[in-house]
Amino acid sequence: MARKPILAGNWKMHGSTAEATALAGGLAASVGAHEDRGVILAPPFTALATVLQAVRGTRIVVAAQNMHFEDKGAFTGEISPAMLADLGVDHVILGHSERRELFGENDEVVNKKVTSALAHGMTAILCVGETLAQRDAGDTLNVIGRQVEGGLRGVGADQADRVILAYEPVWAIGTGRVATPEQAQEVHAAIRSTLGRLGLPGDDIAILYGGSVKPDNVDGLMACADIDGALVGGASLDVESFTRIVDFQ
Ligand code: 13P
Repeated sequence: MARKPILAGNWKMHGSTAEATALAGGLAASVGAHEDRGVILAPPFTALATVLQAVRGTRIVVAAQNMHFEDKGAFTGEISPAMLADLGVDHVILGHSERRELFGENDEVVNKKVTSALAHGMTAILCVGETLAQRDAGDTLNVIGRQVEGGLRGVGADQADRVILAYEPVWAIGTGRVATPEQAQEVHAAIRSTLGRLGLPGDDIAILYGGSVKPDNVDGLMACADIDGALVGGASLDVESFTRIVDFQ
């Protein structure tokens, strides 16, 4: 299979422009030339321009962490796909569990964002994940199946090369409690078969794992057949630790 590993850093709401410049500049030097794996950095909106500048001429890709689905309008505080395109940003994280839990985004809203991003020629990084209560209730695969199906409604096979999935169990995010490779692999395999059921080329779509990925657990996760990369929060805020994650063995 020709899926290239993708290591993505979600900086969340962290960093001044000076800190973003230093972090992006450090990573440009350490991992900016990699050809055998993709590197994505998702800084906050306020640092997108400075990070784009810092990685210019490297192979690092810059992503937004969210966007509105409309092009423009009376949506105070929102950022549109056209605005991101204007900056030169063509990747966007959508449906992160923090957006779902803290800002009330449901599958319908996430789906509007995904289809809007794709219509604008952007790559959508669609996040899905179950809560601890859902896992304990044995409901993980149902929840994930619903989120994948709901998020990708209306997406065609011709757009699949601009779709990336990220499985992020909510209980593993920021908790230091990483899913075991077996737990993650089970869900990734299920996502891949759901993609097939939706008429999408599941074998070609990258599925990243996220949730407490660190330098000391990335190798075990990346050894799994259906884990194609990582979406990293806390450990992506440090040049040395994210470099080690990108350089997984
Ligand atoms: P942590 O790596 O800090 O657990 O965050 C994961 C995440 O939410 C990435 O999107």
